[in-house]
Amino acid sequence: MSAASEKTRVLTGITTTGTPHLGNYVGAIKPAIEASRDPGVQSYYFLADLHALIKCQDPKRVQASRLEIAATWMALGLDTDNAIFYRQSDIPEIPELAWMLSCICAKGLMNRAHAYKAAVADNEAADDQDPDKGITMGLFGYPVLMAADILMFNASRVPVGRDQAQHIEMARDMAGRFNHLYKGQYFTLPEAVVDEEGELLRGLDGRKMSKSYNNTIPLFVSEKKLLKLVRKIKTNSLEPGEPKDPDACTLFQIYSAFASAEEVVAMREEYANGIGWGEAKNRVFEYLNEHLREPRERYQALLEDPGHIERVLLKGAERARAEAAPLMDRLRQVAGLGRFV
Ligand code: TRP
Repeated sequence: MSAASEKTRVLTGITTTGTPHLGNYVGAIKPAIEASRDPGVQSYYFLADLHALIKCQDPKRVQASRLEIAATWMALGLDTDNAIFYRQSDIPEIPELAWMLSCICAKGLMNRAHAYKAAVADNEAADDQDPDKGITMGLFGYPVLMAADILMFNASRVPVGRDQAQHIEMARDMAGRFNHLYKGQYFTLPEAVVDEEGELLRGLDGRKMSKSYNNTIPLFVSEKKLLKLVRKIKTNSLEPGEPKDPDACTLFQIYSAFASAEEVVAMREEYANGIGWGEAKNRVFEYLNEHLREPRERYQALLEDPGHIERVLLKGAERARAEAAPLMDRLRQVAGLGRFV
């Protein structure tokens, strides 16, 4: 066994439809980049651009998002010589494996997927004749493609948001079923790693920061825009001089996600001493701006050199395929799709 294969394999995908925001950074990007520095870990991070097509048929958006997400991870310090960083769509073995898995995956399992059930429930609530209205096969089979992403690289740990944990269970189910049907240990059973803390970063209006609520602070907006957005964070009507509760405060939560433990303690003190909202917002802006300045510059430089990003991703795809292709060959054999001679 080579050293690489003894490492814990950590894998996660990012659907390429949006622009990364502070919530993504705290909840996913930062922990993933940290994990990738652990010498005991081999990480696989990829742009889930085939998944993007399920919810977005705007080619410009998908294309821009792929570039922005790749540039973001690189600007924030992902070591792409260490982590295997690639585009899902550069690995043809993934959709091929997805097909094999869909041939052994019970339709009833997919019927139970939260995302699909929610779409059906919406149709029913709208009193629609067809409960499957607007639901594509892509959406229905989404967990199968996701299982292929994971099982292709025998990942054992999969950091995801809480809403995705069910999909990892489904991947385990498919892995077990495939292993059983074709009598072998082809796949490792993956486990979801859900970071509850990161999950909770709140957005401008105090709800969870999410593109679908339109309440995000994108990571690399201009200084001016960042100030504008921080000023928009919802606070209460307490006046300067009145003590304020940091624990109920979105502004404080966002600050805490970036600041050191001592800085958080100091800010707590300021709240108790009745710092005014205007002042608190200026301080949080200054802090974020200071910490985002350098990565923001790297990000801009990367966006101006898409050729570099392309080369990095192609290199990642080459490394990924060096593992995917032999496994896929083996799976073809066991399913009866091997060569005749
Ligand atoms: N579905 C995930 C999300 O929307 C993205 C994703 C695609 C993924 N394939 C994956 C995450 C495989 C982990 C592993 O967040």
